[in-house]
Amino acid sequence: MDPTHNTPQKAAGRLASVMQEDRVFPPPLEFSKQAKIGSLEDYQRIYDEAARDPDGFWHARAQSLPWMTPYTKVLDWNPPDAKWFVGGRTNASAACLDQHIAAGRGDKIAIVWVGEPVGERREISYRQLHAEVCQFAAGLSQLGVKAGEVVSIYMPMTPELVIAMLACARIGAVHSVIFGGFSSEAIADRNHDAKAVAVITADGGWRRGAALPLKKNVDEALNKPAIDGPQTVKHVVVLKRTGQPVEMVPGRDVWWHDLVAGMPTDTPPVAMDSEAPLFILYTSGSTGKPKGIKHTTAGYLVWAKTTAEWVFDLREDDLFWCTADCGWITGHTYVTYGPLAAGASILIYEGAPNAPNEGRFWEIIEQEKPTIFYTAPTAIRSFMKWGMQHIQGRDLSSLRLLGTVGEGINPEAWIWYHEVIGGKRCPIVDTWWQTETGGIMMSPLPGCTPTKPGSCTLPLPGVCPEVVDAAGNPVDQGEGGWLVLTQPWPGMLRGIWGDDERFRETYWSRVPGKYLAGDNARQDADGYYWIMGRIDDVLNVAGHRLSTIEIESALVSHPAVAEAAAVGRPHDVKGEAVAVFVTLSSGEPGDALKDALRKHVRQQIGALAVPDDIHFAAVLPKTRSGKIMRRLLRDVAAGRETVGDTTTLEDYTVLAKLRDDD
Ligand code: WTA
Repeated sequence: MDPTHNTPQKAAGRLASVMQEDRVFPPPLEFSKQAKIGSLEDYQRIYDEAARDPDGFWHARAQSLPWMTPYTKVLDWNPPDAKWFVGGRTNASAACLDQHIAAGRGDKIAIVWVGEPVGERREISYRQLHAEVCQFAAGLSQLGVKAGEVVSIYMPMTPELVIAMLACARIGAVHSVIFGGFSSEAIADRNHDAKAVAVITADGGWRRGAALPLKKNVDEALNKPAIDGPQTVKHVVVLKRTGQPVEMVPGRDVWWHDLVAGMPTDTPPVAMDSEAPLFILYTSGSTGKPKGIKHTTAGYLVWAKTTAEWVFDLREDDLFWCTADCGWITGHTYVTYGPLAAGASILIYEGAPNAPNEGRFWEIIEQEKPTIFYTAPTAIRSFMKWGMQHIQGRDLSSLRLLGTVGEGINPEAWIWYHEVIGGKRCPIVDTWWQTETGGIMMSPLPGCTPTKPGSCTLPLPGVCPEVVDAAGNPVDQGEGGWLVLTQPWPGMLRGIWGDDERFRETYWSRVPGKYLAGDNARQDADGYYWIMGRIDDVLNVAGHRLSTIEIESALVSHPAVAEAAAVGRPHDVKGEAVAVFVTLSSGEPGDALKDALRKHVRQQIGALAVPDDIHFAAVLPKTRSGKIMRRLLRDVAAGRETVGDTTTLEDYTVLAKLRDDD
């Protein structure tokens, strides 16, 4: 980590100028009248109750899970190790399916699915979803997949992706969903790290009219020489989605439809320990390879369901559209587990927002009439750029609540979202959370919290944030600092898969005994929180977390590259863009090499990590102790330092000499 840019106070100074705290939007009266939590007094009362007696509070909320064996203790907290609902047994798929059917709600629509090819649409009731999950679960068991084993899922956004997740949960297998945009290298790394025994994939998926080569990427991943030890993956299940030709390896590969044929539709759920892992999800950290964030069964589910109900004020007739892909945590918690545990109807769309044209989302809203719409600020900025002509004339009146997640939202985009998409009548929930937190941690409650564009406002009940300095002491209100969480919560990560040391070191060591979120934050005079970017070298590109070191490692694995440094620079749609500086060991600087390097990063990580700017350098600027001066490179990348033509070899040490004090 770079000591020149991450002190909390510096970050606060940098960002204070972009804040607009003067505009306050009270919750719309009509909304508050019907909301379950309809006043700030209600919020305060619930918050205080959770703070006064956390065990009693979470015990009450855990009653809604189907317990096969009751727990004996709510929380065992041995920092940083938490056990929630100790000794209990339950099953996540039973919580999302069986209990709704038992309550007589089997005919309620669970999933409305819209494919990218126009006209493709399916409706699936809770009863049908249950049957399909049971069949697929039985299929996985027949292949020999056992509770506790890891299954990778690399699929397009089809109902079968949700079915695959719930089927793993049903038999106690641990799913590891890999976003469909990742490369075969990334799949191989994740399979290896998790020791996955099976991969569930599809022949392809539709993205902007093209069929993604999902099965081919899986084949490539499995054909790579084993990293160490033998290949752990024994089975590949393939959903037929696009119909493109694929190779099926005899004895290893099986079609989804063959696997489920004749399977029972009432496979019983396996009683899993509260702390049995439900899933792992890889995310980028500031060092090395992505880390497998581990979430367990009961606490995660209680958190997913409770936060979904609080933040989205879920009602019986809601249709909830969270636009995230299940490859990210938002898709885990607010496509699958949260809304389904709450018995809601969800809308899933397979493809891109601009396929076949930039009006697709608004057309879907007009046709399917979702009531809640939850997306990322980067998407909102794209909609703004694409222009009003795609929105005008569309009926968006079904919407009653809007949400954002993944990065801070700039006030301009917030106001546009409020006025154009929300028709000034929908509250906006700007939700701050992380892969590690399992679910939303800070957010307005739509019926009661006055909102300020750009602030995630206040913590949810049970969440105890603090802003501290580098010595771990709370800073004064109004000052910037590191955001930490001082109390455990049911949805918290339980570790990094196979790396306890890294778990302790990353989250719990710099401010001992408190969870270090990795974000800078500041609390204003009303107690509202403002998130101000990362304290480490993690980039947030279009709402996706990327590690600069991962991108650098990918670059130096190319034969022409000697050294590489990756930094973020401001980008008006993506929030941040990736800029890289490379020194060469061979080859000629120029456009051909730039293309080759972009292709290489795409192969090593995936399209989302491909650098926007490539600067060739004769030498990289370093401090006397040999550390690359990232602050300087960030300035160059953002155009704050002029260096002329970037395809010739620049000597950035010339700039560095002027700053020997850095
Ligand atoms: C950032 C996504 C500001 C933050 C759920 C965090 C946000 C990282 C917000 C986690 C928000 C997420 N305002 N920043 N509302 N939401 N972030 O793990 O830096 O993909 O640490 O989880 O995104 O990203 P992740």
